[in-house]
Amino acid sequence: MVTWSCVLLHLLCLNSLCLKARCPLTLSPSSLVVRFGDPFQVNCSVPMKGFSLLGWEVTLVRVAPEPTMNSFLVWRVEHMTEWAISPSCYAVSDMEGPCHLHLPVLVYKAPDSVSLSFVNHTGSLLEHHQYTLWCTVHNVAPAGNLLVTFYRGQTQLVQRHSNVTEKTPVTEVFTLDIVPRREDDGNDYWCEAELQLHPTGTQQRVAVASEKVTTTVLFKMGESLRCEVRGNPEPSVIWLKDGRLVTPPAHSTRAHAGKYTVLATGLFGERNVTVEVEVVTCRGILVYSTLQLSITSI
Ligand SMILES: *[C@@H]1O[C@H](CO)[C@@H](O)[C@H](O)[C@H]1NC(C)=O
Ligand SMILES: *[C@@H]1O[C@H](CO)[C@@H](O)[C@H](O)[C@H]1NC(C)=O
Ligand SMILES: *[C@@H]1O[C@H](CO)[C@@H](O)[C@H](O)[C@H]1NC(C)=O
Ligand SMILES: *[C@@H]1O[C@H](CO)[C@@H](O)[C@H](O)[C@H]1NC(C)=O
Repeated sequence: MVTWSCVLLHLLCLNSLCLKARCPLTLSPSSLVVRFGDPFQVNCSVPMKGFSLLGWEVTLVRVAPEPTMNSFLVWRVEHMTEWAISPSCYAVSDMEGPCHLHLPVLVYKAPDSVSLSFVNHTGSLLEHHQYTLWCTVHNVAPAGNLLVTFYRGQTQLVQRHSNVTEKTPVTEVFTLDIVPRREDDGNDYWCEAELQLHPTGTQQRVAVASEKVTTTVLFKMGESLRCEVRGNPEPSVIWLKDGRLVTPPAHSTRAHAGKYTVLATGLFGERNVTVEVEVVTCRGILVYSTLQLSITSI
């Protein structure tokens, strides 16, 4: 008889249903996701029979409810003012002794702001050069649950996670190196920080996006300014810079920056196009910025 009961007990203990029967506490909700400062409540319940006492064990003794002989005990908090707590509900049974059920808690705070900036750089970008973007997420908790996404326009560039383990709010910087291409001219860069609170996700998103940073990409067009004007008969073309007649510059120097008007005269009458030209240094070579100097089919 003794041997039989031992075997039976062993089998029962390997069985998870059996274990549950021995500590049949239920938490509702079974895990807690709460914004710092918000109220919450968790109901710990147990089938009446066989248990004499039900209680909450929380690090903040002052907010724990008194143990009860009832079949449920609700832990209520008006304002969550702790960043890291590890509460559990317990039941004491006459026959089995005490059993505990841990309540996983995630206390979060959305970032105050998210900002995007270029590291040590302002103004236009040069094609084929490397730049570093900083996405700074201000005052967020827990940083370990952050997912930061960098965008160019609507294109997702890269996603970054943090491995900071602090539960309290921190400010964190995420970086991305970019090498702009001429097609990127005029695009916006921005980033978004999302707190991943619900991996199974039904609740609303907690996400903050940065301002958009619009960029100009400068790229080399050639050693001289060119303007192609086609017509039949060939129109005559003159260049005006800041209102004065000039010859088109053959080599770039800084003095060539300014506003150019290309005036074409033909049988059709007069047409002109005005462009703003920037001259910048690109690896020691002076280059013109984005030029659209091609007038066709006049
Ligand atoms: C707590 O849960 C028990 C069991 O499900 C239920 O009977 C009781 O009404 C609940 N109490 C509250 C306040 O939700
Ligand atoms: C930015 O420039 C300053 C001064 O040149 C330098 O001390 C700093 O390390 C640079 N920062 C980065 C992130 O490159
Ligand atoms: C994450 O941790 C690794 C190693 O501890 C470190 O090299 C890396 O820079 C960390 N990443 C961030 C985003 O902090
Ligand atoms: C260029 O064209 C516009 C309108 O077509 C005209 O108003 C302007 O006077 C022209 N500029 C020159 C320098 O001819």
